[in-house]
Amino acid sequence: MKFKAVIFDLDGVICFTDEYHYRAWKAMADEMGIPFDRTVNNRLRGVSRMASLDIILEKYTGPALSQAEKEKLAQKKNDLYRTSLAEMSPKDLSDEVRETLNALRDMGLRLAIGSSSKNTPFILGQIGLAGFFDAVSDGNNITRSKPDPEVFVKAADMLGMAPELCLVVEDAVSGAEAGHAGGMKVACLGDAAEHGAGDYNMRSIRELIDIVKEGEN
Ligand code: BG6
Ligand code: MG
Repeated sequence: MKFKAVIFDLDGVICFTDEYHYRAWKAMADEMGIPFDRTVNNRLRGVSRMASLDIILEKYTGPALSQAEKEKLAQKKNDLYRTSLAEMSPKDLSDEVRETLNALRDMGLRLAIGSSSKNTPFILGQIGLAGFFDAVSDGNNITRSKPDPEVFVKAADMLGMAPELCLVVEDAVSGAEAGHAGGMKVACLGDAAEHGAGDYNMRSIRELIDIVKEGEN
C-alpha cells in the first residue's frame, strides 16, 4: 500500500459543518453591513476563527475595532455556529463518509483528524465519531493554522508515521498547501479539488479507496 495513514480535515470533508460556518459568518456580516458571499467564504476554509474574521473585515468600512471588540464578534459567531452543531446527530454522517472510513480501517490504515477547528471534539461527539480516530489534532493543540503544516505534522507525530506515508484529505486550498508544506500527498474534494490543489482531485470521498491502493501489486 502506498500510504499507511490518512489524515482527514473535518469541516467540509467528514461533515458539512462548512455550511454552518458560512451561515453564522453571514448573519454576523449582514448585521454589520459587510459584503460577504460564498466566494469570500471559500477563503475562510481551513483558516482559524480570528484569521477568518480578519478576512471578513477586509470589507468593513465602519469605525476601527479594538481587539476586544473583534473577540466579541468571533465569540458571537461561534455561539451561533454552535447552535447549529447542537442540532447535529450521527445522521449527519453520510453513508459515503462512514463506508469509506470503515473500508480504509479494514484495509489496515491508521486514521486521524487534522482540523483547525476548536470545536472538533464537540462535532466528533455529535456525529458519533468520538473515539473513532487513532489521533485527533485540532485547533486546540496548534499555534498556527493552515496553510501552516503544524496541525498535520502533529497528527502524523501522534500516529508515529513519517509524513510521506500519510495522505491528507482536504476541501480547502489552504489545507492542501498545509499538507504539501508538511511533506505529505494531498487528496482534495470540493473547492480545493475545483482549484486542482491536490495530488488527487476527487469528486467523491469514495475515490480514496483506490488512491491508497495505487501502486500496489
Ligand atoms: C476550519 C474551518 O476547519 O476551522 C474554518 O474550515 C474555521 O472555516 C476553522 O474558521 C476554525 O473553526 P472553529 O470551529 O474553531 O471556529
Ligand atoms: Mg475543511
